[in-house]
Amino acid sequence: MNDPRPQPLAVTGEEVAARIAATVRADVRALRAYSVAKADGMIKLDANESPYPLPEAVRRKLAAALADVPLNRYPDGGADAVKRALRASLQLSDDVGLLLGNGSDEILQLVTTAVAQPGSVVLAPDPTFVMYRVYASHARMRYVGVPLRDDLTLDGDAMLAAIERERPALVWLASPNNPTGTLFDPADVERIVRATPGLAVVDEAYVAYASSAFLPRVLEFPNLVVVRTLSKVGMAGMRLGCAAAHPAWIGEIDKLRSPYNVNALTQAAALALLAEGALFARQVGEVRAERGRLSVALAALPGVRVFASEANFVVARFPDATAAFGALRAAGILVKNVSGFHSLLANCLRITVGTPPENDALIAALERSA
Ligand SMILES: Cc1ncc(COP(=O)(O)O)c(C=O)c1O
Repeated sequence: MNDPRPQPLAVTGEEVAARIAATVRADVRALRAYSVAKADGMIKLDANESPYPLPEAVRRKLAAALADVPLNRYPDGGADAVKRALRASLQLSDDVGLLLGNGSDEILQLVTTAVAQPGSVVLAPDPTFVMYRVYASHARMRYVGVPLRDDLTLDGDAMLAAIERERPALVWLASPNNPTGTLFDPADVERIVRATPGLAVVDEAYVAYASSAFLPRVLEFPNLVVVRTLSKVGMAGMRLGCAAAHPAWIGEIDKLRSPYNVNALTQAAALALLAEGALFARQVGEVRAERGRLSVALAALPGVRVFASEANFVVARFPDATAAFGALRAAGILVKNVSGFHSLLANCLRITVGTPPENDALIAALERSA
């Protein structure tokens, strides 16, 4: 029934703004929310995803697995079955501790929170994955970036000097690094982990595309966590990442985890898809082969420099990155213009390796505009 009496007026925007100004942290009010570019109908080469959708037969298996999920119930908070499957897939021994996250993003946030203390320092090469800085700022930590070399490789000596100076509580090493694609020299990684007075994290989001990994060595160091994700090998939408470390480290980080952080649909999907290891390995092989072809084709364009990559994307410097980005956009292809991220990336585009026809379309559009 409609109430005929006059309704009280809704609060005004000014009232709400005043309450927010008095309540929300000033540094949070100064932030901007992370925005994701819309790519409707475009060839999407901007987010380092796998270009391959699931084959029909796998989709049917997945649909059956998801149909059986009791959505009226909370998920298994420990996600034990998924952990068992992941351990098998990562060849992790039982003496390594494992923690799952809603994507590895959640893990990065939990790790940062675990070590955050007033005035403490987070240190990482620069440029690197933007979320390290974002989570440090949420936790009110001081973030110190150590520039890569001009060829985008890690400057191990500069990292060691900065660690000595800053005594960081947390050091991030994304290897292969995003947004550069560079695999850091394992000898440098080892020196840095050993010199770090706090916790060192090696983030191996792109390791499937690389020639070496640190995960098998995780128990060699008293202060190392290795982070992995399924996002870069065909399952970004599922949101599943993990941290592997000595069980005592995992025990501390686990205290900060929300009880049901990996939802029941993700758990069921992960179990179904981790059984398809051969499929994803084949796709990774195809992307690696295409990365080589794409790099050669880009390097053949006038004035273009391609940086060595061990990830599923390549970074290339163009005579005019804005013009190249615009030409690709006009051709219906979305890449990431990383020019503004750091002076070392001036005029650079980050291009995710696509399927062979997608890469052909990209190369043809760039040739037309060159
Ligand atoms: C180096 C690195 N780490 C972690 C992530 C987060 O991945 P996800 O949250 O999808 O696992 C990304 C995503 O781009 C990344 O580039």
